[in-house]
Amino acid sequence: MDLLKVIKERKTVRAFKPDPIPKEKIEEILKLAIHAPSAINLQPWEFIVVTGEEKERLSRRLIKAYREKQISCGPGNVKPLPKTYGKRGAKTLELMNPFFEEMGVNSDKFINEGSCNFYGAPVAILICLDDSFPKARMVDIGLALGYLVLTAHEFGLATCPIGLIIAYEDEIKDLLNIPENKNVVIGVALGYPDGNIPINRFKSQRDNLEKFIRWIE
Ligand SMILES: Cc1cc2nc3c(=O)[nH]c(=O)nc-3n(C[C@H](O)[C@H](O)[C@H](O)COP(=O)(O)O)c2cc1C
Repeated sequence: MDLLKVIKERKTVRAFKPDPIPKEKIEEILKLAIHAPSAINLQPWEFIVVTGEEKERLSRRLIKAYREKQISCGPGNVKPLPKTYGKRGAKTLELMNPFFEEMGVNSDKFINEGSCNFYGAPVAILICLDDSFPKARMVDIGLALGYLVLTAHEFGLATCPIGLIIAYEDEIKDLLNIPENKNVVIGVALGYPDGNIPINRFKSQRDNLEKFIRWIE
């Protein structure tokens, strides 16, 4: 497929078929994801791929932690967000709402518990970063994530990056024996999209480029 088409078509999917993904396919995707550039070619990313009963165990633990602590989707801002950003988030949820209504589900519960369950995907990928790196290396992790989601789309698979679960990093590390010196930066749900679930018809919008750009000539 052509790259531009993949970029335009890819979207976050929030309902997956349970069908397993062959290990070779997951490896193929990750082999392409690590083509991402990184500072001084440090390749700081580490992938933990969780499948089968272990993935179900992880989901159960995360849902339990979420129900106990109720820490929800939120980027952990260090200062109050300028209004523009809050409005974008609210607008996105507003546009998603008709799909949740069609499904007869509560949107908060669907997103929060769905994220903890990787939306039923058979594969959960956790991308980790050694804690000796500075925050700037998050950029490299983000690039690998970008390559991963685009490659998955090219292969007819779907993804949902899952940041919510990072609120429960301690639980994840405990369950999966992840060493203390590794930070879990982001999770990704990977699987075949379930075309019968209304929320998967939702496609998020983008503001016009002029909102993001300042030319200095
Ligand atoms: C770093 C990051 C964290 C995210 N965390 C979540 C999450 O926890 N739960 C969720 O449902 N979607 C999550 N998303 C998906 C975003 O909501 C989605 O990318 C955004 O609404 C734009 O939609 P699109 O991916 O379909 O273009 C996350 C995306 C990114 C990049």
